[in-house]
Amino acid sequence: MSLTDLIYAGSNAVAGLTEGAVNDAIAKYGEGHAVGYPDTAYFLPIIYAATGVKIKTLGDLPAAVGILKSLITNKEDLGDALNAGLATAVGAEIIEAIRYLDCDPYVNDAGIGFVADPIIRSLGVPLVTGDIPGIAVLLGESSDPAALAAIVKDYQEKGLLTFMVGNIIEQALEAGVKMGLDYRVIPLGHEVTSVIHVVSVAIRAALIFGGIEPGKLPEFLTYTKERVPAFVNTFGELNEVIVSVGAGAIALGFPVIADVPVPEVPGALMSQADHAKTVEFSLEAREIKIKVTKINVPVSVASAFEGERVRKDTMFAEFGGNKTECWELVTSGDPAEMEDHKITLIGPDIDDAMFAGADVVRLPLGIVVTVGGKAMQKDFETVLERRIHYFTNYIDGAMHVGQRNIAWIRLTKEAFEKGFRLKHIGEVLYAKMRSDFEKVVDKCEITIYTKAEDVKRLGEEMVKPIYAERDARMSALTDASVDEFYTCLLCQSFAPSHVCVVTPERLGLCGAVSWLDAKATKELDPLGPNQPIIKGEAVDERLGIWDSVNEVVNAASQGAVEKVTLYSILEDPMTSCGCFECICGIMPEANGVIIVNREFSQTSPVGMTFGELASMTGGGVQTPGFMGHGRFLIGSKKFMSAEGGLSRIVWMPKELKDDVAERLNKAVFEMTGIENFTNMVCDETIATDSEAVLEFLETKNHPALAMDSIM
Ligand code: SF4
Ligand code: NI
Ligand code: NI
Repeated sequence: MSLTDLIYAGSNAVAGLTEGAVNDAIAKYGEGHAVGYPDTAYFLPIIYAATGVKIKTLGDLPAAVGILKSLITNKEDLGDALNAGLATAVGAEIIEAIRYLDCDPYVNDAGIGFVADPIIRSLGVPLVTGDIPGIAVLLGESSDPAALAAIVKDYQEKGLLTFMVGNIIEQALEAGVKMGLDYRVIPLGHEVTSVIHVVSVAIRAALIFGGIEPGKLPEFLTYTKERVPAFVNTFGELNEVIVSVGAGAIALGFPVIADVPVPEVPGALMSQADHAKTVEFSLEAREIKIKVTKINVPVSVASAFEGERVRKDTMFAEFGGNKTECWELVTSGDPAEMEDHKITLIGPDIDDAMFAGADVVRLPLGIVVTVGGKAMQKDFETVLERRIHYFTNYIDGAMHVGQRNIAWIRLTKEAFEKGFRLKHIGEVLYAKMRSDFEKVVDKCEITIYTKAEDVKRLGEEMVKPIYAERDARMSALTDASVDEFYTCLLCQSFAPSHVCVVTPERLGLCGAVSWLDAKATKELDPLGPNQPIIKGEAVDERLGIWDSVNEVVNAASQGAVEKVTLYSILEDPMTSCGCFECICGIMPEANGVIIVNREFSQTSPVGMTFGELASMTGGGVQTPGFMGHGRFLIGSKKFMSAEGGLSRIVWMPKELKDDVAERLNKAVFEMTGIENFTNMVCDETIATDSEAVLEFLETKNHPALAMDSIM
């Protein structure tokens, strides 16, 4: 059979299955029965993107099946055949949605099935920063499980996000691959139709970040081809359905690499039988470049391990976490007096004889990273120090929580058994500081203290005063006190017209880029994503309007956004790209705003989930009344200050409220004299229903109720 014949055979088979499944479902549940995926604001996302049709009930499906069939022309033409591959995608999306009718079909499956909107949003920043350099989709059953596992681990060590479909999931698990979102290896499911959940991710990236209008299918295909760095590896023999799924992938711009002979289409469908070459071949095919820093430690170090948790039962050693003292510090030194790559441990290591027979090794810990370089500035110390958290987490077998003197580190038994010791933390920090900050760090020394008296004394005498000095500098750092703001254009790779304006009192909406970060990045990468905006005189102080800002935003968005205010949520608010940590929306009846963070999955008092609220904005579009922002903005005196500021906040999820309480209470007190403001803010443990929220606000005499009408 020719390639096109194979594709059509698969597409027609899937079309038949889809039609049958739709008819059966309607017969069983009736046309009015709701159909959809959990925690998405985009209905059946592929159909929604391709046609603009919002599928809500089973009765909406037969028309979609009609469209699907019309995509299958059975003409001997490769372009047409690729469209038939898209038909297979639509069919798979419908079949999978029907599987969700009764309950989550993946509860007893190693796969996770549908990927919710908030997870996609959380991937935005790592993808734009290149922290996740690409997306691998693996499919099938391997004739050589050990080779398969090696491939997955290689992708993991390179930081890629890997999705798996089919029996390769068990094969990889058995071969010891660590799996789960926290390890960037995501098992989707066993049925071949599960692959649709990764296609859905790519399509929703275009909806969420790209702001592409539903119905404009060609624009979606251009977006996925140009901006979603995905490719497919198939394992084992290919049947017609897999070939037509592959055709769908190719239509999206994702090359398919099989490990068996296939009719090749250069750049799109290729064969690589040698598993030792699969990774390199695939990365080349998708033009994904990997930056590797070789680090001499006995475990893997990769951004893919950032999310791993170390639980009690796998833990070998622990530092901090209220059990011992633990702090970390980056400070600058004089390069002339420094010895590069000097790593010193003062005190016992985790294999010290005194721990023989101990359940858990607990030690106090103080880490001092001294950096020196001509371009190093005092202000960058905090930026580098914050990276200790990420760099330590990259270690397979290490967990790092917190920062400064509330740091908390755990190491696993597995890492210890592989020979990992404290000096290796130093090796990792050294290597990453040198490679990630090469423009400012010429020399780097690491000293690790584990004697209780040292950690205590230095913590008091050296570390705390430095923190205090920095805090004083930081609080003096306001929008009024600086001469320049910064742009951040990082997210333009996903949201081409989005521009963040980063100021001392308004960090980037992803929460990852502060004014100091932007300033440091400018130094590290002079032509990079963070460029200074020379502020000049404000046109309107209250709304936060600067001609300089408007000019830059206009140019950087290619004219898509002509003007923004920095302090208003209603008048020309800043745009959102999609990767914001929190979304703020108006609750008119309470005369205030609610804020929902990405991790919160329940419905908010305005009747929408985070995902639904988030879908109201994004893609670099201005949406008055909605604002994506970082957690840290809750506590800034400039938080929608034009509309009354922080005291407009009437509701937040409890976890978020607790997280921001200290800064928020302090700022509200300084602005209004109200003490313990968070006690007046409602949360889901008190009420989520609009009326009950209002009642609570009234009993607390919440200040928003007495303010000018917000709308
Ligand atoms: Fe994206 Fe804005 Fe964060 Fe930059 S600051 S990474 S543009 S969200
Ligand atoms: Ni880790
Ligand atoms: Ni973004």
